[in-house]
Amino acid sequence: LREHEEFTKVKNIATIELGRYEIETWYFSPFPPEYNDCTKLFFCEFCLNFMKRKEQLQRHMRKCDLKHPPGDEIYRNGTLSMFEVDGKKNKVYGQNLCYLAKLFLDHKTLYYDVDLFLFYVLCECDDRGCHMVGYFSKEKHSEESYNLACILTLPPYQRKGYGKFLIAFSYELSKKECKVGTPERPLSDLGLLSYRGYWTRVLLDILKKHKGNISIKELSDMTAIKAEDILSTLQSLELIQYRKGQHVICADPKVLDRHLKAAGRGGLDVDVAKLIWTPYK
Ligand code: ACO
Ligand code: ZN
Repeated sequence: LREHEEFTKVKNIATIELGRYEIETWYFSPFPPEYNDCTKLFFCEFCLNFMKRKEQLQRHMRKCDLKHPPGDEIYRNGTLSMFEVDGKKNKVYGQNLCYLAKLFLDHKTLYYDVDLFLFYVLCECDDRGCHMVGYFSKEKHSEESYNLACILTLPPYQRKGYGKFLIAFSYELSKKECKVGTPERPLSDLGLLSYRGYWTRVLLDILKKHKGNISIKELSDMTAIKAEDILSTLQSLELIQYRKGQHVICADPKVLDRHLKAAGRGGLDVDVAKLIWTPYK
């Protein structure tokens, strides 16, 4: 029976309270067995500890001294801050974040081995503290050149450009590492939409500037986007022809403009001058 329950992934927690939001959950998340009888959980928005009852949370908030995620603030631009949390140094935080994220991620396996990951937690800050809007995780060492494992924008903050900001941020880290990167597969529908949007905008901007006179390898070097992802994006935009055994980019300015318009708004940009970071060693 247990195995069956695990297999069918019955959603247990229906809502969570986090900061000033009450959020309906999307998917099953494997909280420890003592939470099996709960349909609602109360999270501390700073340390991400979760509790069964509101009074427990209120008591917790009186003594919790965190006002932002643990770890290092590596980026600040206006009210937007990014914190880097090492899963090995902040194990409980990393696990709490995974439990929380799984409520909105369908096909991802939950990594209990948070030691191997860094978590990049994006916050909107005010005088009450730094409030998490989303995050992405990244393996410290990836054989497959993954630069992002899981990405989430919390539902109250979705469709405001934070997803594309997180994606852009993951590529800025790859550029600093002098590596190309790609997100871990499979991508969710929303994940694929967001990546496709990001790749399209970044690549079309460059193609426009260079009037198409640029190779996939050069595009990859400039953007840290893996060549396969560049090829599939340009193919989906029908900007690739196959001539004499080679992929050739055909960038008619009119076609580029049409695609750029369709690609929608650019959203929040990462100001690299404000990123203070050295690669993990
Ligand atoms: N309907 C249609 N298009 C959407 C939607 C939606 N509900 N949400 C995002 N998009 C598309 C749009 O093209 C949007 O661009 P636009 O607003 O300019 O049209 C683009 O994706 C990105 O929008 P953002 O506002 O930048 O992204 P958001 O902050 O909403 O975050 C994310 C995107 C992270 C995928 C979010 O939807 C999410 O957390 N989903 C649940 C978790 C998930 O599926 N994560 C990805 C799993 S794959 C992986 O982790 C490797
Ligand atoms: Zn707390």
